[in-house]
Amino acid sequence: MAVQYVQYKGIKFPPGYNSVDSLYFAENEFQVRDDDIFNITYPKSGTVWMIEILSLILNDGNPTWNQGILNSLRAPWFTTQLGLETAHNLPSPRLLTCHLPIQIFPKAFFSSKSKVVYTLRDPRDVLVSYYHFSKMCIPFGDPKSFNHFLDRFLKGDVPFGSWFDHIRGWMKLKGKSNIFFISYEQLQEDLYGSIKDLSIFLGKELDEAAITSIVEHASFEAMRKNNMCNSTMLPKEVMDQEKGSFLRKGICGDWKTHFTMAQSEYFNRVYQEKMRGLKETFPWEPT
Ligand code: A3P
Repeated sequence: MAVQYVQYKGIKFPPGYNSVDSLYFAENEFQVRDDDIFNITYPKSGTVWMIEILSLILNDGNPTWNQGILNSLRAPWFTTQLGLETAHNLPSPRLLTCHLPIQIFPKAFFSSKSKVVYTLRDPRDVLVSYYHFSKMCIPFGDPKSFNHFLDRFLKGDVPFGSWFDHIRGWMKLKGKSNIFFISYEQLQEDLYGSIKDLSIFLGKELDEAAITSIVEHASFEAMRKNNMCNSTMLPKEVMDQEKGSFLRKGICGDWKTHFTMAQSEYFNRVYQEKMRGLKETFPWEPT
């Protein structure tokens, strides 16, 4: 049966956890604390990876919290009813996670000193990861064929809306001192250096041993083994582990094994058009 998405301000959200009320609350009434740290992404850009990294940074590299408490309780999805309750009860500083586009992000953020870490990823790899994820994560809906999903993705007709709009919206905050942009590709290339930069942004002084511990415990292999972040604790009605693996490949450039020449040309055409006028150069763009 086709999934009935929740519609909020012209954007589709997966049903079950999200509702119009919970999204309205997140946007208009959520109380932001000055020391909140928001982990924001478009889906499949490294959200859960960043939860592990930020949780470890807050604990000076000690993995006990990451290994003992579910990621959704450490960095709740505050746009959902369940996540909201968790968020209310968390001591400060809180880690909070969401995929919200900027136009429906909590209004209270804009007059607060809270911080945002925004992780972005090559949209072709996002698309591939999203396609596989949608097969196993029931509320996201059956993606049907790869070609069909690619077309929907490029039209922004997928949960959480258009990748292009998400990026362009958040990029408007570039240069503000309380927002830190980082890419999945940077994390892959230099995890140690990325953790160092993130910890400076968060005002945490970490020594070499702490950073080395974070690199180890936030590795793809360590995360695959950790039931607190590998999604295996989710019920089968939400995440069907027989249809895939949440921590699937964890590499850059997997799109090359999925895109045909024609799909690549279609993608590039839309990318050029949608990214026009943006001054930024991204790690996945040819130099
Ligand atoms: P793939 O499907 O390409 O493997 P999100 O958390 O935003 O849903 O993103 C999930 C993607 O991040 C998946 O990509 C997953 O494998 C990847 N990922 C998660 N943890 C990772 C890690 N430690 N190293 C590399 N990739 C990781």
